[in-house]
Amino acid sequence: MLNSTRQATAVAHPNIALAKYWGKRDSGQNEPAVPSLSVTLEGMSTTTVVCFDDSLVSDVVLLNGKQADSRTTTRVTGLLDRIRFAASLTSKARVTSTNDFPTASGLASSASGFAALALAATAAAGLERPRAWVSDLARRTSASSARSVFGGFVELLAGSGADLLSASVVVEASHLPLRMLIAVTTEDAKDTLSSDGMQHTAATSPFYRSWIETAPQVFSQVKNALLNRDLEALGHAAEHSALMMHASAIAAEPGLVYWRGATVDALREVRSLRKSGVGVWGTMDAGPHLKAICAPADVDRVREHLLSVPGVLRVIVGSPGGVPRVTTP
Ligand code: DP6
Repeated sequence: MLNSTRQATAVAHPNIALAKYWGKRDSGQNEPAVPSLSVTLEGMSTTTVVCFDDSLVSDVVLLNGKQADSRTTTRVTGLLDRIRFAASLTSKARVTSTNDFPTASGLASSASGFAALALAATAAAGLERPRAWVSDLARRTSASSARSVFGGFVELLAGSGADLLSASVVVEASHLPLRMLIAVTTEDAKDTLSSDGMQHTAATSPFYRSWIETAPQVFSQVKNALLNRDLEALGHAAEHSALMMHASAIAAEPGLVYWRGATVDALREVRSLRKSGVGVWGTMDAGPHLKAICAPADVDRVREHLLSVPGVLRVIVGSPGGVPRVTTP
């Protein structure tokens, strides 16, 4: 293989689920147990450079300028091993990844991170594969990252044991002009990674079964509302999906509480704004940030209200978009 094909850079964007993924099938293939639907966001990005280098004795992973912890490095190496197998390559790789937003605190940094890694590694290895293949590859390491391989509104169905399970675009970003305001409540990494949290929920929460049974209905509500461009129905269903997911986690033993006081206060602020007539809804992932969904015209008002909540450090505004870009030297 020519040296010039052995390095590539990818820029991918986080996605926030409107219908949440929480729980895996028992297949050992990292297949979600429920369908999910997300919006990929412009305004935040991960840039990842992958360079296959014969002089390396092991993969080197740098995250935001620091060597990644061993768990992250193992996950990265697992993805790179699949690439090496597909490309008949033996070289180790240097992976340099930078986020322009807080890492590992429920801000979907793993989604944009593993999507960017899968895209860059595929290109660096000289593999020409459809995006569905790359999405499936990313999904095997972190399921939500399968959705960040695409921009706009993206779904990932529950696993069914098929060979390939990739995310796919439901509608392009321009279909529904909404905004997602992220009320950042801490710059620290979260305590319990999603993988561990959902496994613990599945193993110990009496509400897990109900979540698995009802999540597909809420997914359908989210999807239909999106297709109908009905922001109000979408917001209601998205808030419901998030609270159902968290209810299942809170009921685990011991209970998993991802929220801080500011998370709950920000949700209360969203609800009180809604009562006053503003179309705004809240969602939370496996972390302490509150994400508010609203129409573009309401952004300034919602931002101001979120910033008035004690403990909200800053607000990032994301818009649907975020088609990833890949470049080779
Ligand atoms: C709460 O994709 O991080 O953000 O597949 O184990 O890596 P793994 O989990 P991950 O879980 C994301 C969970 C969520 C909801 C969502 O993004 O759908």
